[in-house]
Amino acid sequence: MQTSPGPTPQRGESPQRIGIPRETFPLEKRVATVPDVVEKLIKLGFTVAVESGAGEAAHFSDEAYRAAGAEILPDAAALWAASDMVFKVRPPSEGEVALMREGGMLIDFIWPAQNPELMQQLAARKATVLAIDCLPRTLSRAQKMDALTSMAGVSGYRAVIEAANAFGRYFNGQITAAGKVPPAKVFIAGAGVAGLAAIGTAANLGAIVRANDTRAEVADQVKSLGGEFVKVDYEEDGAGGGGYAKVMSEGFQAAQRQMYASQAKDADIIITTALIPGKPAPKLITAEMVQSMQPGSVIVDMAAEQGGNCELTVPGEAVVRHGVTIIGYADLASRLAKQSSTLYATNLLRLTEELCKAKDGRAVVNMEDDAIRGLTVIKDGEITWPAPPLKQAPAPAPKAAAAPVAEKKNGHGAGAPMPAKALVVIFAVAALLFALIGAYAPAAFLGHFTVFVLACFIGYMVVWNVTPALHTPLMSVTNAISSIIAIGALVQIAPPEMGGAGASGRPEGLILWLAFAALVLTAVNMFGGFAVTRRMLAMFRK
Ligand code: NAI
Repeated sequence: MQTSPGPTPQRGESPQRIGIPRETFPLEKRVATVPDVVEKLIKLGFTVAVESGAGEAAHFSDEAYRAAGAEILPDAAALWAASDMVFKVRPPSEGEVALMREGGMLIDFIWPAQNPELMQQLAARKATVLAIDCLPRTLSRAQKMDALTSMAGVSGYRAVIEAANAFGRYFNGQITAAGKVPPAKVFIAGAGVAGLAAIGTAANLGAIVRANDTRAEVADQVKSLGGEFVKVDYEEDGAGGGGYAKVMSEGFQAAQRQMYASQAKDADIIITTALIPGKPAPKLITAEMVQSMQPGSVIVDMAAEQGGNCELTVPGEAVVRHGVTIIGYADLASRLAKQSSTLYATNLLRLTEELCKAKDGRAVVNMEDDAIRGLTVIKDGEITWPAPPLKQAPAPAPKAAAAPVAEKKNGHGAGAPMPAKALVVIFAVAALLFALIGAYAPAAFLGHFTVFVLACFIGYMVVWNVTPALHTPLMSVTNAISSIIAIGALVQIAPPEMGGAGASGRPEGLILWLAFAALVLTAVNMFGGFAVTRRMLAMFRK
C-alpha cells in the first residue's frame, strides 16, 4: 500500500482538464456535473470539457454548459483523450476504460468488491481511481462528499412517488360530498437513508406511516419524520457498527416474519429498503404476505438489485402478482435526474476542493488524509483497496469526561469551574469592600445597598434556574428577565394603597413614565416571543 502524498504540482504546470462524458449505461439519465458546478470547478483553477449531449437527459443543454465556461467536445473518444480527470456516475464499461488516458484520474461509483475485473483493467491503464462508494461515511468531515447518502435520499423520495403512481387512491384521508376516503397505510421496511426519506415523503403526502428496522436506535428518527416505529416482539439489537445492521438470529427472524405478516395484511403500500452491505438482501416479504394484501396494493422493493426483500420481485421491472404491483426498479435516482445530478455534482465539487486545496487547478491525492485514503481504490496503477480501518479517535481523558457533569450542575453550561485560589481572592476582596462600605456609608444608603445586593442574588438564581421546557433556552432566559423587569415596573406604577412606589412618597413623574416604557417593551418581547414560537411550531405540524 502506498501512503505517500501524491505528486506535488510544480510551479508553472498547466491546469488539469476535468472531462464529463455522456453516461452509456442503459436508461441512465444522470450526469456527473451540472453547469452551476462547472463555474465553481473553473474557479478552482481547472478547465472543464463536456461531451456533447451529456446533460441532455437530465435537462442540462450543451448551451448551458458552454455559458458556464465548459468546452463541448463532439464525442466520447475526444472527451476521454482530452481529459486528465474524468467524473462519471456509473462504473465505466470496458470500451470506456480503453479510451482512458494512461495515468489519468477517474472519480466515479466503482463498487470494487463487485467489479474485480474492472479494477484490473483500470490498474492496467496506470490510472488513479477514487471510488465515491468507498467514502468512509462515519467521518463527519466526509458528509459533504457522501454521494451514497444523496442518491439514497433521492431514491427514497422517488420510491414513494412510484408507489403513488401505481396506487389507485389518495394518500391523505379526505371527507368529500361523495364520501369518506381513508388515508393510505404505508409500511417501510428498513429505516436507513432511503427508508427515512421515504417515511418523510409518505407522511408529508398524508399517509399513515409505520416503519421497522433491526437497529433500535432509529426509532426516534422514524417518529421525528412523522412515522410510527413498529417493534419486533423479540429482544435483540441489530446494530452492527458504523451505522449498519448485523445478521439477526433465527429467533428474531421468526418473530419479525410474524410481525411483517400482520403489517402486510393491513398496509396498502410497502416500501422495502432493508440491506446489510456486502450481504444478499434479507427476504422479508414472502409470497403468502403478498397474497394477503388487498388487490391494488403496491410494493416498491428498493433492494431489488441485491436480490430483493420480496420473494416475488423482478429486478428492474414492475410486475403484478396476486393483484399487487411489485416495483423492482434499480434506477430510482436516475428517474429524478436533474435533482440527483445536481446533488452528485455538488458532492464531487466538495471532493475536488479537498483534492485541490491550493486552488491551482491541480489535484493532489493525499494518502495521509483518512477520507481521501478511503476513496482511493487505485493509485498510479496500484490497487490500494480495501483501505485499512480508520484510526480510532483517542479515548477521552478522564478530566474531559468530568466537564459535562460540572456544566449540568450549574445548569447553564458556564464551562470549567473556577480554580479555588481565584475564588478565595474574589471573596476576600468582596468582604473588604463590604466592610469599608459598612464603616463609612450613611445609614440610608446601607439599607438601599442591602436590598440591591439581595435583588441581584435572587434575580441571578431565578433567571439561571429557569428550565427551558417549552421554548429554547434563550427564550426561557429572556422571558425570565422580562418578567423581573415587568414586576419592577409594576411596583413603580402601582398606587400607594396597593403598596406601590408612590407609598414611599417619592417623585412620580419621570419614574412613572420610565416604568410604563419598561412595561411596554417587555410585553412586546414576551408576547412577540410567544407569537414567534407558535409560528415555528406550526411549521412542524401537519
Ligand atoms: P442503508 O444501509 O442506509 O439502510 C438499510 C437499512 O436496512 C438499515 O437501516 C438497516 O438497519 C436495515 N436493515 C438491515 N437488515 C434488516 C432487516 N432484516 N430488517 C429490517 N431492517 C433491516 O441503505 P440505504 O442507503 O438506505 O439503501 C437502502 C436500499 O436501497 C439498499 O438496498 C440500496 O442498495 C437500495 N437503493 C436502491 C436504489 C434504487 O434505485 N433501487 C437507489 C439507492 C439505494
